[in-house]
Amino acid sequence: MKPVVISTWKHGIDANKAAYDILSKGGNSLDAVENGVKVSEDDPTVLSVGYGGLPDADGRVTLDAAIMDWKARVGSVICVENIKNPISLARLILENTEHMVLAGDGAYDYALKNGFKPQNLMTENSLKRYNDWKVSNKKGPEEIHTDDFILKKTKKEINEDGNHDTIGMVAVDKNGHVSASCTTSGMAWKLHGRVGDSPMIGSGLYVDGEVGGAASTGRGEECIRAVGSFLIVEMMRMGLSPKEACRVAVQRVVKLNLLSSKNRDHIFQVGFIALNNKGEHGAYSVRSGFQYAVFENGKNTLYDSEFLIDEEYIIEDL
Ligand code: GLY
Repeated sequence: MKPVVISTWKHGIDANKAAYDILSKGGNSLDAVENGVKVSEDDPTVLSVGYGGLPDADGRVTLDAAIMDWKARVGSVICVENIKNPISLARLILENTEHMVLAGDGAYDYALKNGFKPQNLMTENSLKRYNDWKVSNKKGPEEIHTDDFILKKTKKEINEDGNHDTIGMVAVDKNGHVSASCTTSGMAWKLHGRVGDSPMIGSGLYVDGEVGGAASTGRGEECIRAVGSFLIVEMMRMGLSPKEACRVAVQRVVKLNLLSSKNRDHIFQVGFIALNNKGEHGAYSVRSGFQYAVFENGKNTLYDSEFLIDEEYIIEDL
């Protein structure tokens, strides 16, 4: 029953509260998804988003964010530094420019010209983690991003190391209007300049006002390859439920990973959430451990997502 907001991971619970507060007072979904994910951007204990997000290999915190509404209006920022709320910068691009995406210094300059204040986004904790990583990293920062970075992780670490818990959010308001947002500091210790799925329309998030919206979390490279969020919205357009549509996208992610990866291990996590304009929602992930939060009918609930990899399936069938 509308309004509904869905978001990724446990920190989605607090983000949902802010979003639902707006929705329950009759506010629109665009305001809801902007102000919802700002809660995670402001929270220094969330190590993958905004203030306190873990830095890249050069010790620089670089943020990606995007927002999209039911009228196909888009704003996106890529690799922006020292701006605590990139989602609001993305919203400003959506509202005030003829463009959709601003990157790096250009995004930063545009922010300052429009009243954003520069801020050091490193915290004591993120600096300590970075220094620990530098000491423990025997191979140098570039190699850590290749196979070892992924292969040495256990299933538990894949979900809990703070590297892949981007917040994505989709909301439908009382008028049935859907919007989505996505914001992240990206993969920890990434090469400087690396950009994930979150600011890429169609990958990190997508909305079609006639259908609904979707957003992703996890290893952005895999989601980009599958253009996962767009795929989910198109599957919902064809009549699939949000959960079924997310499952199709997860299958595509795994299939393309198998096709492209020399390791063929697919030890990574990608999770999708989706919400249609009737208020029906669902999620699916590659591996176990993905959680998502749903606020509907006045109740905010954290769910365990269904997942693909530990299911019995034949790879050739994917
Ligand atoms: N999903 C966020 C990223 O990979 O950067």
